[in-house]
Order: sequence, then C-alpha cells, then structure tokens
Amino acid sequence: MSVSTMHTDDVRELLHKVAGFDQAEGQERVKQILHRVMHDLFQIVEDFDVTPEELWRAVYYVGELGQSGEAALVAPGLGIDRYLDIRMDAEDEQAGRDGGTPRTIEGPLYVAGAPLKDGYDRMDDGTDTQAETMILSGQVTDENGQPLPGAVVDIWHADSKGAYSYFDPSQSDYNLRRRIRTDSDGRYKVRSIIPSGYGCPPDGPTQKLLSLVGRHGQRPAHIHFFISRPGYKHLTTQINLSDDDYTYDDFAFATRGELVRDAVRIDDPETIRANGLEVPYKEVRFDVQLVATEDESLQTRHERPRAQEETNS
Ligand code: BEZ
Ligand code: FE
Repeated sequence: MSVSTMHTDDVRELLHKVAGFDQAEGQERVKQILHRVMHDLFQIVEDFDVTPEELWRAVYYVGELGQSGEAALVAPGLGIDRYLDIRMDAEDEQAGRDGGTPRTIEGPLYVAGAPLKDGYDRMDDGTDTQAETMILSGQVTDENGQPLPGAVVDIWHADSKGAYSYFDPSQSDYNLRRRIRTDSDGRYKVRSIIPSGYGCPPDGPTQKLLSLVGRHGQRPAHIHFFISRPGYKHLTTQINLSDDDYTYDDFAFATRGELVRDAVRIDDPETIRANGLEVPYKEVRFDVQLVATEDESLQTRHERPRAQEETNS
C-alpha cells in the first residue's frame, strides 16, 4: 500500500530535528547536508514504496560494509571517484587550467612513502615467478614539450594475481611501489612486472551489491601514477593495458581512451641485453604532460585517508 507522508508536519519536524536544526551546537554545513540526505532517503522510501524489510536490509548492509573495510572499494564501483574527476575536469576547464595528461581515479590502494630513487629503479622483489618482466619508461614535460627534471613519479601496481603489497601481507614492504625522480631530461624508467587486473573479493559486500544490479567487479591490468613538481598541477592518473578483457569495461570507471597503452613484447636479443635482461620482456611507455600553475594548493595531492600517509608523506 502506497501512502504519501513527505509533505506532512510530522515528517518535516522529524527531519528538522534529525539534522540538528533545533540545536545551537554543531556545524551548519553538516546540518544542511544531513538534512538533504535524510530527506532524499525518505523520499526514495516513499517514491519506491520501500518496505521495512528492504530498509533494514540496507541498514545492515552499511554495517557489513563498514566491518569488511570495503567502503572505499564500493565507492569507485558506484562511480563516486569518476564523478569527482568529472567535477575536477570541469573546474579546471572553467579556470583555464585544463590540458596536459588526463587525470583518472586514485583508488583505495596507495601506500605513502615508497622508496625514492633518481631516474631508475627496480620495483619488484623478484618473487613473482609467474609474472612477465616489464620495462616502463617515459618523459615528463610541460605542455610545450619542455622536459621537467626533478619531477617525482610515484608508481604503484598489482602483482600477477591482481594483489597489492601492504594490503596483501604476503608481499614484501613496498613491493611494486616506487617513487622515481626524473633525470635532467625529464625521464624516468623502472623495471617491474606486468600486473594483472584487480577483482573485488567475490564474497564481500561490494560484489554483493554489484551482483544485485548485474555488474561484475573487475578492473583491467593497470598502473597508477602520482606525478608532481613544484610549479605544476599535481597529477593523479593511471594507464590501462590494452590487451585486457576489461580495458574498456572497468567496474571503477577509470579507463580513459588517452590512457590506454600497449605492452609491447621485446624479443630482440640485443635490446634484451641492453636492458640488463636475459629473457624477452614487455615494454610500456607513458609520457606525461604537466600543466603549470602558481596555485600551491593544486601542486600536491588532495587530502584523503591513505595508508602510511601520516608517517611518510
Ligand atoms: C585499484 O586501483 O586497483 C582499485 C580501484 C578502485 C577500486 C578497487 C581497486
Ligand atoms: Fe589499482
């Protein structure tokens, strides 16, 4: 049976008190937003005639989500990270500071404080014997193609099972995580392994919700980057490898056409030797263009909870 109560004094008064509008204490912005959230939730209950059983199931789902630690995993699946990127792109365009390499989502798996090296380092600890070797390199320039020495390229990616060090305690500290300072020509280079795509835990609350709307919880193989240099807009981005079933079907909506890269197999013996290797490997190139800005608040990554952020920023 469908009833209409949103317009009544009882509901209006209830929402007023829920949001603390009758209290002198508290923060006005939080009150305004909480009022809107609860109003819209009640409106959904009314419009969809949500049953008490359904509403309680949703309440306990939130509890389950919190206990599982998957809140920051369901968020990208619900498009929150992508939506924030769309907003930041629009803000940049409005302020005339668009251009450069496109941003895309950070995701929840960054760990601050990876080893910082000049020009080159090896990122893997050599234990992932299933993995193909990858040589990843590129040049950081400004929008006119001028090389930017001294930029910090902070790189992180998954192993051949799609798992990230720190969150996967079986991996060594900072495995597949490095910060490389670009050389005098703006170049960086790492030896690592080709990552596999990430999949949401199949029995977790994120996958439970995705399955209810007929969606998978898979990401393509990808590599994350933070790129920063004083005088330039901080860039959060990632590249998606081109030969993955999910390259254009990422549950976290991070794929952007300009950020898809081929991993090219190199089997020429001389090139293999020149890279200090003995077996064929895959080469990935990612050049980055940063946009100049004098606004210091745009030169560093925005705040959010991150593993090891307080101890190692
Ligand atoms: C990731 O970067 O691997 C990731 C991003 C969003 C959700 C889950 C994982
Ligand atoms: Fe990732």
